Amino acid sequence: MVKTMRFGIVLALLLLPALAGAADLERGRALAERWCGNCHVVDPTAPSGRADGLPTFPAIAANPKITPASLRGIMSAPHGRMPDFSLGARDQDDLIAYILSLRPN
Ligand code: HEC
Repeated sequence: MVKTMRFGIVLALLLLPALAGAADLERGRALAERWCGNCHVVDPTAPSGRADGLPTFPAIAANPKITPASLRGIMSAPHGRMPDFSLGARDQDDLIAYILSLRPN
């Protein structure tokens, strides 16, 4: 019994960093679908062009001028009739991580 518990704790400690690392992208994707998906195509498999004249997220990721700092700036100010979401720092970090994960190598 005690042994099983200890094993569980060790397992949790081993898995925690892996889960925390993956959670950000997943969270970023959920945030993108929720807050950006009304206008942008945020799906990673979307063609990297513009849909309805708006850059898809893969297109944004492929733009060499886009940096974490520029994304933060875009998200911190209303753009393209985008409402002011007042996204928190963690939301922005996760969104940036998600968008840049779409960047082609
Ligand atoms: C109400 C519609 C709308 C929503 C919601 C929206 N956007 Fe946009 N976004 C636009 C429009 C319109 C443009 C094109 C503006 C332009 O090209 O001048 C744009 C452009 C962009 C660009 C590219 C800017 C560039 O210079 O290439 C980025 C990055 C971006 N949006 C990020 C986001 C993120 C992140 C979210 C979600 C947090 C979001 N947008 C939500 C309308 C929206």
